Formats: sequence, structure tokens, C-alpha cells
Amino acid sequence: MEYLESPYTAKELRTEVFVANNNFLTALEKEVGGHTVFDHPFLLKLANNEYSREGVVFVLKQFGKIVMPFTAAICKLMGNAPDIKSRFMLMDNLYEEMGGNDINHCHPMLYLKMLDSVGVSKYELDKTPTLSSIRILNDAIYDAVANKSFAIGCAWLGYGGELTIPNNFPYLVDGTKACFGKDVDLDFWGRHGERDQTHSDDATTVLSMNTTPEEHDEIAQSVKDSLNIRAMIWDELEKICDAEYLNNLIITGKETGMLSPEIKVLSEYYHALNNGDIQLMKHNWSKEKSAAFTSPLGGIVRTHETIVSAHNELFESPIEIDVEYYDVQIALMDNGFQAVGRERGVMRIGNETVSVGFRTSRLFVKEEGEYKQLHHHGSFEDVQIQNKILDTLSALQSA
Ligand SMILES: [Fe+2]
Repeated sequence: MEYLESPYTAKELRTEVFVANNNFLTALEKEVGGHTVFDHPFLLKLANNEYSREGVVFVLKQFGKIVMPFTAAICKLMGNAPDIKSRFMLMDNLYEEMGGNDINHCHPMLYLKMLDSVGVSKYELDKTPTLSSIRILNDAIYDAVANKSFAIGCAWLGYGGELTIPNNFPYLVDGTKACFGKDVDLDFWGRHGERDQTHSDDATTVLSMNTTPEEHDEIAQSVKDSLNIRAMIWDELEKICDAEYLNNLIITGKETGMLSPEIKVLSEYYHALNNGDIQLMKHNWSKEKSAAFTSPLGGIVRTHETIVSAHNELFESPIEIDVEYYDVQIALMDNGFQAVGRERGVMRIGNETVSVGFRTSRLFVKEEGEYKQLHHHGSFEDVQIQNKILDTLSALQSA
């Protein structure tokens, strides 16, 4: 307890039932210790400053959608408390969440103050649509605190949530600091950290006081569901941020490790192009009738077979290409994504090596669950280089 004295006597904290429940929760905490919600790759990337300012603002707005309804959920759960002592336990946490004796220190107010410091108003937050996974979490929490037993409500709101805070919050703080430096108001994050261990201990105590061994399975499942949904939130944020908000995204075709599906298919394309791998190129393109490739070397090539044979011709010609994709912006669509960016690198034709640059736009669609390239439009950045290469090629063909 942070502000109030514990309402429980030492004797109450030693009863057989309490100790058995407490042991069950300790074992459960151990069991879920390796859950993907902890040290999630999205949090690592966020803390590592891998997302742009717009990306971090996007994440903070979405996280606000979890923070805002929290005090209402505690109040709902308090109404469901079976006795005054359990309610008193929750009051300690609510008192902190409500800012103690200062309305301006309410956690939701502090969160709005942080958003305001990075240029986001409450109005903008309110009109931002909430991610699906966050809506599911909030609905599940509300359902648990309003309609389930007090212990299950505690498992969802208290225990399941508090378990993630000591691990997850420092990443969010580091990511926010790395992006905004001194410009951002960090009071909200300052109210979380060590004191959350106290809240977590209180959540364990109040849950141990109010459950029975018959309910253990349901509690374990509720805690796992809560962690699963929280991991899904990081998954969803990661997918969007990787696609739309990566800092200095460069794709060379040599990418390894965990990649978002959008980066993976673009990387596959560059691997195929830079290594003259026709099978991989074939795999990369859509089989839709409307597939079209507008080459910087001229012409429009249509349909999967013709596009593949045009690439085959290129790979068997004396032209060697080594380029990377940069200044890329990816925008997700219902069944695919568009990537608009630039390419830079070299083109070798016979003995001649020319530095080249292209503007390159692409459209990928999902076919049988995998992204495939439906359209690719490339054009030279520099007309003089374009002419030089076309001259070299025609000299080669007429030789
Ligand atoms: Fe809080």
C-alpha cells in the first residue's frame, strides 16, 4: 500500500487459503514469465528509436486509449468488491490514479499533458480511431469488472495488467525520450515504475484474499487471455509502425531476422534483382492479369509470364544491377500496400559502371495470404544518366 495502511491483520495474511492462493499466483507468475508480451520486439524497436516522430505520436495516442478508461474500470471493480477491506485495498490504487489530492495529477490528466507537449490535443486523441486489439482489451476488462466475479475482475484489471508494467513501461519511456528528448512532458511516466511493484503486490494480496482453489483455472486462463491480448496490441502496433513509420528505412535485399511481411517481400525483390535470381523474382510477382511493370529502361510489360521473361532477359544480359531502396514510405491498404521511394546504386554494363538513381513506386496485393507485386513503376532520377545508359545499351545491341 502506498498511501493507506493495509486493512488486513497479520493473522488474515497467514490463513491456509490465503497462503495457498498466494502460492498459486506466484507459480502462475513464473509460468507466464516467458510470455511474448514481455520484451516484445515492438517495444525493443520503439526504445531503440527505430520509429519516426509521427510513429511515436501514433503509439502514444493509441496507448492513451488504454490509459483513459482505467480509472472508470477500477471504480466499477470497487463496486463489485465483496467486503469493505477489499474495497479499501483498491482505493489506495485509485487514490494514486486520481492524482491524490490534486486533479491535475490524475493519471489521465498527466497523460493528456504529455500528449499536449508533443502537439496532440485531447480533441485529436478523442477523434483518433482506436486499434482493434485495444478495443478488444478494453471490452474484455469492462466485461470482467462489471459482469464476472470480483476475483476474475481483479485478474483482468489488476493482476494481469500489473504483471506487464514493470517490463513494458520502461521501453515506452525510453522510446518517448529517445524520440522527443527534453521536449516531452514525462510526469505521467514518472508516476509509474517502482511504485507499480507496490500496486502489483497489492493486486496479488487482494486477489489471494478473494478467491478459492476452484477458481484457480479460470484465473490462470483470464491472466493468460489478458497477456495474450496485450501482446496482440504490441503485434498490431508493430505491424503498422514497421510499415509506415520506420526511421531511415533502407532495403538492400540482405535483410535477415524478424521482418514485417511488407519489408520481407520488398527485401525478397531486391535480393532477386541484385543477385539475378529469376525463381525468387517469379515468386515475388502477382499472377493477377493486371500485373504490370513499367521499366526505367522503357516500355510497359504486362502479365506475370511476360514480366518474368523480361526479368530473365535482363538477368541474362550483360547488365548487372546493385541497388538499394531508400526514402521509402509504405502505406497499408485493405488487401495490400503501396511503397513509394527511391533506388540508388550502380549499373554495370560490360566494362562500364554507372551510378544510378530511380524513383520507384510499387503496389503489392495479398494472394493466398502472401504479398505479391502487382505493379512496379520505375523511372530514372537523372535524364542524362538515362540517356547515357540507353546509348550504351543500343551500342551493345548493334555491336
Ligand atoms: Fe496509472
